[in-house]
Amino acid sequence: MVLRLNVNGTVRETAAAADTPLLYVLRNDFALTGTKFGCGAGECGACTVLVDGRPLRACRTPVGELTNARILTIEGLGTAAHPHPLQAAALTEQAAQCGWCTGGMLVAAKALFDRNPKATESEVRAALADHLCRCGSHNRIVRAVLRAGR
Ligand code: FES
Repeated sequence: MVLRLNVNGTVRETAAAADTPLLYVLRNDFALTGTKFGCGAGECGACTVLVDGRPLRACRTPVGELTNARILTIEGLGTAAHPHPLQAAALTEQAAQCGWCTGGMLVAAKALFDRNPKATESEVRAALADHLCRCGSHNRIVRAVLRAGR
């Protein structure tokens, strides 16, 4: 059976089983490798995407539940030529070290600003609190998100 998923505004097809985690379909079927595998257990946030505007852990979400959803990955946020303000700020603040957590954090930050454009530093920190950064770049990422929100 073929499943159709709306990813970054484009409807794509996958032959993956309905219980396959979205993360594997994004990376292996659609070559959208900006969404990362970290823990595979819903704990680290590296695999975060937006589903109908809300952050969701792609490693724990079966694709069969998403056939009527709008999925946004880091690739859908902006392009190299036209980066989203969050991506531009991440570059300015050199927010990524290894970069594994960055995509998940930036889409989570987008969800925050979409519902709260005037988010404060403490609100940004709360929104990103369950995203792990093993390089210790969390403060630079928060700075970048705050810069984007100005
Ligand atoms: Fe999904 Fe860590 S890989 S939360």
